[in-house]
Amino acid sequence: MDADDTTPVPPPGCPAHGSGGRVPLYGPEFAADPQAYYGFLRHYGPAAPVELAPGVEATLVTDYATALQLLQDSGTFRKDARRWRAFNEGKVGPDSPVAPLLAYRPNCMFADGADHLRLRQAVTDSMARVDTRRLSRSTEQISGYLISQFGARGSADLLGDYAKQLPLFVFNELFGCPADIGDRVLFGISGMFDGVNADKATAVLFQAVGELVALKRSRPGDDVTSWLMQHQAQLTDEEMVHQLALLLGAGAEPLRNLIGNTLHRLLTHDRYAREGGLIDEALDDTLWENPPMSNYAPHYPATDVEFAGQHLQAGDLVLVSFAAANTGPALQATRQAGSNRAHLAWSAGPHACPSKEPARHITVSAIENLFNHLPDLRLAVPEDSLSWRRGPFHRALAALPARFTPVQPDRGADRAEGPAPAEAPGEPARRPERVGRWSQFLNWLTR
Ligand code: HEM
Repeated sequence: MDADDTTPVPPPGCPAHGSGGRVPLYGPEFAADPQAYYGFLRHYGPAAPVELAPGVEATLVTDYATALQLLQDSGTFRKDARRWRAFNEGKVGPDSPVAPLLAYRPNCMFADGADHLRLRQAVTDSMARVDTRRLSRSTEQISGYLISQFGARGSADLLGDYAKQLPLFVFNELFGCPADIGDRVLFGISGMFDGVNADKATAVLFQAVGELVALKRSRPGDDVTSWLMQHQAQLTDEEMVHQLALLLGAGAEPLRNLIGNTLHRLLTHDRYAREGGLIDEALDDTLWENPPMSNYAPHYPATDVEFAGQHLQAGDLVLVSFAAANTGPALQATRQAGSNRAHLAWSAGPHACPSKEPARHITVSAIENLFNHLPDLRLAVPEDSLSWRRGPFHRALAALPARFTPVQPDRGADRAEGPAPAEAPGEPARRPERVGRWSQFLNWLTR
């Protein structure tokens, strides 16, 4: 168990202290100092026994080379969560807090082999059609709108008021959501991630996405939804709904945290000036040292196997710690040698994130635009008073309070060259009675 023959010392507050048990990744102690936990977990060797929620056991790979080996061996390690033994045996229930991210859904994340290839190709090809200039323009418009909501105050929570909202609005534009459907998509995704009334939020989201699919079947547009359904993979309506829900879910939460963690880095490290090139650098450093998806890539061995010094049974849950692998001693040399993108923040192998380019692009545009409007942006509280959300999978700030000189953003400049807002063809550009958040943005844009 112990790779270097020294006794592992659990980080302060860790209930694994002296118990020899699994290391819990769901408590406030882990959220406060994950690196102390990764340092401790490395003492077990390349993989360690962890608990993702009370009673939910997993093996976590913390070593970079071992992580790559797992991620690239899709014969031994499968993604289809219907193999998850503890779930099938009822030891983990559908109401477990980790079920929303681990339980099976019919989308490319949980598919293997030819099924995966077909679904994934449709996603990759459709995302590749996103025009970067159009993406920049809509990100700037949305950013301008969000800043207009708090700019005059001189203070904001850059997480809740900005980083959390922006990806959702951008997705509505990318997927071609008309006002009413877009309002419900925003409501559904926010509710699912906030865990408030999550069942209702999920139902609202799936209903809205179902309507979007029906709408685009009859009236296709210039958007990801239409490109997905026109793809040669010929997705059924049910497959369309699940791929769209995956894109929204797999995109919104990590994108929010990539914007949040990069802003955090820029506001707490003096060495980054607020210019385009250095935002890129801060983004790369964030992906190395504070990746938004810290522990994920759930896999299940197809048969019993010896792996990374552990005996794994078929159907055992194995995850990769991208955060630990990126920061382990083995990688320091690679990074110093200038291989700046060798990190695992987007995972690797057949299931690596298919949207890293658009996600990078949205993040950089969102942050550039924020500093362009609010050049003296600074943290409003001491850095050590910031808190991070609990949970084994993400690295996510709870809030990022900031101050700046109050501004009245010039809305005309933001919309000067922008595309028409996403509307169903034939729908009037303006509907004063709209009340949802996407509607309010569309109203603002067309005012
Ligand atoms: C535009 C925003 C994004 C979209 C639409 C998106 C979409 C997706 C999809 C569809 C997958 C599943 C791929 C497959 O199973 O074949 C995936 C995987 C992944 N994404 Fe993204 N993503 C986005 C942003 C991000 C961000 C910001 C991060 C973090 C830096 C991230 C990290 C990952 C990781 C680590 C995986 C692998 C998960 C696993 O192996 O289970 N993604 N993403």
